[in-house]
Amino acid sequence: MTSTEGIIGRADINDIEQILMISNTDVDAAIHAVKDNADAIFTWDYEKGARPALNKLYEKAKNSQWNGETDLDWSINVDQEAVVVANMAANSRGAGLDVAGTCFEKWGDKEWTELGIQSQNWTLSQFMHGEQGALLCTAKIVETVPWIDAKYYASTQVMDEARHVEVFAKYLNEKLSGHYPVNAHLKMLLDDIVTDSRWDMTYLGMQIMVEGLALAAFGFMHQMTTEPLLKQLLRYVMSDEARHVAFGVLSLKEYYQELTQAELRERQEFAFEAAVRMRDRFLQQEVWDRMGVPVKEAVNVVMHDPGQVLFQQMLFAKIVPNCKKLGLLDAGDGWLRTKFTELGVIDFEHMPDTEEEYETFALADGEVAGVRRD
Ligand SMILES: [Fe+2]
Ligand SMILES: [Fe+2]
Repeated sequence: MTSTEGIIGRADINDIEQILMISNTDVDAAIHAVKDNADAIFTWDYEKGARPALNKLYEKAKNSQWNGETDLDWSINVDQEAVVVANMAANSRGAGLDVAGTCFEKWGDKEWTELGIQSQNWTLSQFMHGEQGALLCTAKIVETVPWIDAKYYASTQVMDEARHVEVFAKYLNEKLSGHYPVNAHLKMLLDDIVTDSRWDMTYLGMQIMVEGLALAAFGFMHQMTTEPLLKQLLRYVMSDEARHVAFGVLSLKEYYQELTQAELRERQEFAFEAAVRMRDRFLQQEVWDRMGVPVKEAVNVVMHDPGQVLFQQMLFAKIVPNCKKLGLLDAGDGWLRTKFTELGVIDFEHMPDTEEEYETFALADGEVAGVRRD
């Protein structure tokens, strides 16, 4: 068993100084190589449908492919500044934030709008990098998972993720006003997931944790944005993501039944590490840097902003019930339950899990074949 410090590199999960010590040092590099440490596994058991739930998901995926170039309406003109102003008016985000005596005290509309623009560039950039992480992880699962139904399904997810990277990159290039390199905490997490030699850890890190968070975050943004193209893009991406999370839940539910308590504890610790890395990345330290405000002070203000705290907790709305479904919350002495309680997210355990939920996220008949607005 490992201490909190051994897992995440610091004893106090809210130690801002330690969080900010982690930064991306190779922002100018065009490529980043990571050893994936895994055996490629052939199976000679080709019996299709031996795992009916995975087979059903695979058949569903084959009929749910869409084309990012032609199914989304790229002719929509996006005035990013106007969208930021409209979003702020529609959602009153940040309202009630007490900035007296902080670095934000002298900020006027101009600065808040610029923050909205930078935050959007940053958020969509991180989604794009995360999508590439999903592309690589799922390609790895095709190689490493021993079950034919899972290899079949994973191959459809590889295509889905290519499409997601493609549409986020296109949206950033054509509609927004700048990119950000991958956030250091997200990069660290993606590296850890790809590096792990155990096939089920790829699923836990990616399908359960990263994609579980993405599904909640996309849902939040889909609801909040007033921009019709982004709304449509997120709607399409979410219909795929819900299947991906279901793929993780269905596969791990079976596999975890074979594991010992000690092995489950390693999975709990990995889930906790992933949760903290993702929480840390949403502090968007690179944005504060670019806005020219003291990063530590800015992070301190947002960490105590009730709206931001609520947003960060909401990101776990899918992760916690799915971990519960997999038996990870309460395995052993309920270690992960204690950790999720410390993170303030345990109340989501009663929310619906994602094993079947993908049906409700599916695109309607006809939605795939042509451009359709929400
Ligand atoms: Fe994706
Ligand atoms: Fe995905």
